[in-house]
Amino acid sequence: MRHLLDTKTLDRQTAVGILDVAEDMADTQRREVKKLPTLRGKTVVNLFFEDSTRTRISFEAAAKRLSADVINFSAKGSSVSKGESLQDTAQTLQAMGADAVVIRHGASGAPRTLATSGWITAGVVNAGDGTHEHPTQALLDAFTIRKRRFGDASRGRGLDAIRVTIVGDILHSRVARSNVWLLTALGAEVTLVAPPTLIPQDVSDWPVRVDYDLDRAIAEGPDAVMMLRIQLERMRAAYFPTEREYARVWGLSRQRVAALPPDTMVLHPGPMNRGLEIAAEAADSERSTVLEQVTNGVSVRMAVLYLLLAGERDDEREDGR
Ligand code: CP
Repeated sequence: MRHLLDTKTLDRQTAVGILDVAEDMADTQRREVKKLPTLRGKTVVNLFFEDSTRTRISFEAAAKRLSADVINFSAKGSSVSKGESLQDTAQTLQAMGADAVVIRHGASGAPRTLATSGWITAGVVNAGDGTHEHPTQALLDAFTIRKRRFGDASRGRGLDAIRVTIVGDILHSRVARSNVWLLTALGAEVTLVAPPTLIPQDVSDWPVRVDYDLDRAIAEGPDAVMMLRIQLERMRAAYFPTEREYARVWGLSRQRVAALPPDTMVLHPGPMNRGLEIAAEAADSERSTVLEQVTNGVSVRMAVLYLLLAGERDDEREDGR
């Protein structure tokens, strides 16, 4: 794998392959093998132009567990505030020896620009770009659903006929987009639930069903419910009901959790707005996979870095190098 920029272009076989390598990584963690020597001598740069807790720390933990060196770059406090461009910032980091660049950026498409511009030779991983995609989040979500559903028999499997309901601010959510492409590639059936103003206009081109009634979607007894954070900071033009109204109509309340089948899992990518899209009782219930998702995120990111940096790169194979 040369880069990981999205899930829209990931085919099922490649996606299952990444999840299976993540299983291997999770096994090493369970056996308390704290460090693998696999990426010794490699340097991973975390290039974050937007805030992050889970993704940045989890990429750092993943790289270190594979014995790579890590350089953390945050736009805040850097020369970006003096107007330095993405090209110059990236080339500066490449000059420090970056083998892989993990980038989060507010502009949709920034990771692809970095990967295809020829500015740098490092492999690029998209850690979230604008409202476009967040592929490692979707991979860890799929990994979590597969693990909860199939346990030790997960390897080699997709998510055929697993019904996943994604609820909330679909319009602004790169997590929703990456999940729609990945989950459906793996065979899952996806339903989106949101107020009409938080559903993207091009949704008719997506391989999903849309509902506006959360209680009706819950009554269908999905296998997994994924609650999304209401992105109040991106709510510029979209009509948004009051927070109280949103929580009442589209929030996962204690009563709605109780109405789900007993083995339905509840996912949230974090950070959560407790009391808005998800009640504390739902976030902290046994069905909640929120912390499992964080743990699994490290294994998934180990797998991605391993496949990017330890395997023979596609371009090297083509060049016969
Ligand atoms: N889920 C997620 O991307 O969280 P962070 O913004 O904390 O990285």
